[in-house]
Parts: sequence; C-alpha cells; structure tokens
Amino acid sequence: MAKVLVINGPNLNMLGIREPGVYGKTTLPEINATISRRAAELGVAVEFYQSNSEGALIDRIHAGSGEVDVIILNPGAYTHTSYALRDAITAVGIPTIEVHLSNIHAREPFRDRSVISPVVSGIIAGLGPRGYLLALEAASTLISH
Ligand code: DQA
Repeated sequence: MAKVLVINGPNLNMLGIREPGVYGKTTLPEINATISRRAAELGVAVEFYQSNSEGALIDRIHAGSGEVDVIILNPGAYTHTSYALRDAITAVGIPTIEVHLSNIHAREPFRDRSVISPVVSGIIAGLGPRGYLLALEAASTLISH
C-alpha cells in the first residue's frame, strides 16, 4: 500500500490554542483523525509526525527514504528560514506537498517567502485544515501516476 507521511513543524502542536483567529480552533489530533479517515477511503497508508525541532524534522525526512511515497509538509516558521529542511527534501527526492493553514502571502512580509516552495511538487495555503485533505488527494494522484 502506498504510504504518505504527514509532517508538521514547530508550534503546530499548539493548534486549537494558538492564535485561533489565524489558525482556527481545530487541534492537530483532530486534523490528523480527519486525514486518517480520508486516507482509508483513498486506500493509502498514512503516518503522522510533529516536531518543534529542525534537526528532528530533518531526521524524519531522511528516515522516509525508500519507505514513503509522498510527504505532506507544513514546515511552520521553518518555511521562511530553513535551507537545511529544504536540502533534506531534495536529498531524499520524495515528492513533497507544502501545506499552510493560513495564506502566507497575505500576512507579514517575512511570511511571503518560502525557501521550501522551489523544491516541492505543489503548495496549498490559506484553506485551513482542509488544505491537508486536498494535499492527500493530490498525493494519491501523484502515487497512481
Ligand atoms: C504556517 C504559516 C507560518 O508562517 C507559521 O510560522 C506557522 C504556520 C501555516 O500553517 O499557516 O507556524 O505554516
């Protein structure tokens, strides 16, 4: 069975509490439960990982090499800063879909630039938790082609 790895970066474990006006009231476990249900419908295996640490995120991406078909990644604020995370994606060569709950292009100027975007297959931003489901559907299409 094809495998999708959903990775959430720093502060995304605080969803539901953190700036609900920006990120909504849905918690990460709730988002992951919805993703799991949709993955079962689509017939793909899904695994979840969250860390606040850049190195741990990189290690998890490396561990996906040869094991994971598609990565869905919300890098949190590392989106804007982490060349190391970007290099990890290119190092493993696993197709990756970047997801943001908020529209990063409609916020503070520092969020307008993603150093991750140039190395991913696609980007979804501004659609809230639904963005992860859309990414999952895109992932299953990428896998079947
Ligand atoms: C985010 C946007 C980032 O700018 C921010 O640092 C986050 C969350 C989003 O999902 O909208 O932590 O990636």
